[in-house]
Amino acid sequence: MRAPQSRTYSPPSITAELGRGDAALARNHQNRNVPFCDQIDGVSIDDLVEQFGSPLFVFSERTVIETARRAKKAFSKVYPNTTFGWSYKTNYLKAICNIFHKEGWIAEVVSEFEYQKAEQAGIPGKDIIYNGPCKSRESLEHALRQGSLVQIDNWDELRVIEEIVPTLRRPVDVGIRIWMDTGLTPAWSKFGVSLASGEAARAVLRVIANPHLKLHTLHSHIGTYVLEPKAYAVAAERLVILRELISRKTGHLVPCINLGGGFPSGSLLHEMPEKTKVPPIEEYAEAIAGVLNQLPRAQRPQLRLETGRHLIDDAGYLIASVVAVKGAERDKAQPNSGKRSRGGYVVDAGVNLLYTSTWFRVNVLPTKPSDPLHNSASKLYGCLCMNIDIIRQAVELPPLEVDDKLVLHPVGAYNLTQSMQFIGLRPAVVLIGVDGSVNVIRRREKLADVENGEQVPERLQLAAI
Ligand SMILES: Cc1ncc(COP(=O)(O)O)c(C=O)c1O
Repeated sequence: MRAPQSRTYSPPSITAELGRGDAALARNHQNRNVPFCDQIDGVSIDDLVEQFGSPLFVFSERTVIETARRAKKAFSKVYPNTTFGWSYKTNYLKAICNIFHKEGWIAEVVSEFEYQKAEQAGIPGKDIIYNGPCKSRESLEHALRQGSLVQIDNWDELRVIEEIVPTLRRPVDVGIRIWMDTGLTPAWSKFGVSLASGEAARAVLRVIANPHLKLHTLHSHIGTYVLEPKAYAVAAERLVILRELISRKTGHLVPCINLGGGFPSGSLLHEMPEKTKVPPIEEYAEAIAGVLNQLPRAQRPQLRLETGRHLIDDAGYLIASVVAVKGAERDKAQPNSGKRSRGGYVVDAGVNLLYTSTWFRVNVLPTKPSDPLHNSASKLYGCLCMNIDIIRQAVELPPLEVDDKLVLHPVGAYNLTQSMQFIGLRPAVVLIGVDGSVNVIRRREKLADVENGEQVPERLQLAAI
């Protein structure tokens, strides 16, 4: 028997809309003031493009440092025993990672390749947290030998670790990743072992019973872009309760609680009202410390955090240029007016470079002031030969011409690491230093960067023409 069809259900389909933006949105966006951005940290957009080309990723070292120091201060003020790990997957350009390492961040990696990057940057094994649901036996063995903290994701990984550790010279520290439903954010059940089902307690007891293992960390990462500081209080409270139960049962007081990342950046999701207030980092620090500080001083754990997005998103910009004006024929109503109707703009960057624009409403800023009377809701199309490549369905913009520049912001988190060499090569990335100097931190790609590693069997070689 076929299942009855729900009347309200319409199957998802991949369209240009991707569920975001609609006509109402466009109607609300007419003749508004449009902020502009003609420089980043005192360096003019025109100069940047002239020197490094378009599109161009630009990072502000000043913003990275200020955001990092503010986060550190927020936590150390209320909970001094806090350590931050830089979440490599959020942005693993060497220069960016090194800013964090110079600010005292250890490394948090989620793959063998990221582990190698941290090692090559000179981070000692003990300062690398190894996370993630897919760790090879070789990489686990290497990380454990180097003294890194492996945060165990699942039973199969635990089994592999149990096989490895008797071959090591001394017992090793490990953590266990635990998932839970805080009731305030969607639960991320893909990672870790479940708290509610008792699985986490079983894994913990199994680790403690193993003479080759020392349980160092109870870890939970409840999600990303979590707008509810209270969710962290719930997570902290649940881990503290588990820690107390373990202590009572085994006498082992787990020394560290790691609450992962997930604190938001200034970015908003497409459907969020423009006036939405993103809670400041201090509220997250207070929510977590409010729980941990209830413990007697001697029993308070080390707190570790692996926040990514919050620390880097606002520091990143993408400069793009208009390559075509869509609907740019003479205005039909006034054929002799010389006016052109503008439905939207194609720019030289797309979702290949701005993966997160699928969910996040990236701000689009022209580089000159404009007259609100001439501003209108416009579509911003990316450069890909692919219908879903739309950066904004409706964004208020002044009339633009080919070669006009636009500054897209914030884009510093996840876009570089998730960018694709799909259809186009990846652009240069520059860093504006605190002293105003501009350095290339990744050069513009060349064809050889994409073809590197390809091989053509002899029978498919083409004769020189
Ligand atoms: C285990 C872990 N730690 C840290 C992060 C960083 O998260 P965010 O960038 O939201 O701070 C993630 C992201 O998914 C994660 O899975």
